[in-house]
Amino acid sequence: MNASGYLLHVAASPNAEQSTSTALGRLLTEQLAHKMRNVAVVERDIGTHAPPVPSRQFAADNLLPLEQRSDNLESEILIEELEAAKALVISTPMHNFGVPAVLKAWIDQILRPQRTFARSSKGKQGLLEDRPVFIIVTCGGPVTGPYAQQDFLTPYLEYVLPTIGLSNIQVIRLDSMVRTPEHTASQIEQCKAWIAEQVANLCEVA
Ligand SMILES: Cc1cc2nc3c(=O)[nH]c(=O)nc-3n(C[C@H](O)[C@H](O)[C@H](O)COP(=O)(O)O)c2cc1C
Repeated sequence: MNASGYLLHVAASPNAEQSTSTALGRLLTEQLAHKMRNVAVVERDIGTHAPPVPSRQFAADNLLPLEQRSDNLESEILIEELEAAKALVISTPMHNFGVPAVLKAWIDQILRPQRTFARSSKGKQGLLEDRPVFIIVTCGGPVTGPYAQQDFLTPYLEYVLPTIGLSNIQVIRLDSMVRTPEHTASQIEQCKAWIAEQVANLCEVA
């Protein structure tokens, strides 16, 4: 893990203070930060401040060597913010069985050839130092049981993050969050137990 840095929380819900995933992501980040001797926390709220989608210039730049690219300032800000983070927490709702558009925009800004991954004869190779990644997913409907929806979100994140070198990934999904208040409460309690487990496990490593 990096010698200096902070914890980065990328929050993808549009629901701001009403969001369950954002609230649980904050809880996890605060507890991890406390255990890591009060390291700082940076919250990147992409749910209410969306990253830009790739422009024509951005797409053209991806094909050029680094030194010939234009500034791509927003992409660089997001990449450097991630590079300096000791750990990454992503909190996100499921949107139409997959990642919310804002999270896809963030991914498009940070996955850049020759910058965060290298093209090689063995395929794409991650260029970032690995670090713990924690993902909290909230779903309105079921993702387990007989009426489960197909989940394109979790497998996608588990595939895309290792592409840039982030392979140490822990995920929890909160299921059927709009079913009943009792069910929602039980999912939140399960997530809080999972958070305690992640914090305890991190201490064993640190
Ligand atoms: C545009 C949109 C699409 C959604 N699509 C799905 C979906 O495909 N499956 C699902 O289970 N919930 C879906 N939901 C519901 C949210 O995932 C769910 O309400 C979640 O608990 C919200 O989390 P939050 O409180 O962190 O914002 C969708 C919500 C929105 C706004």
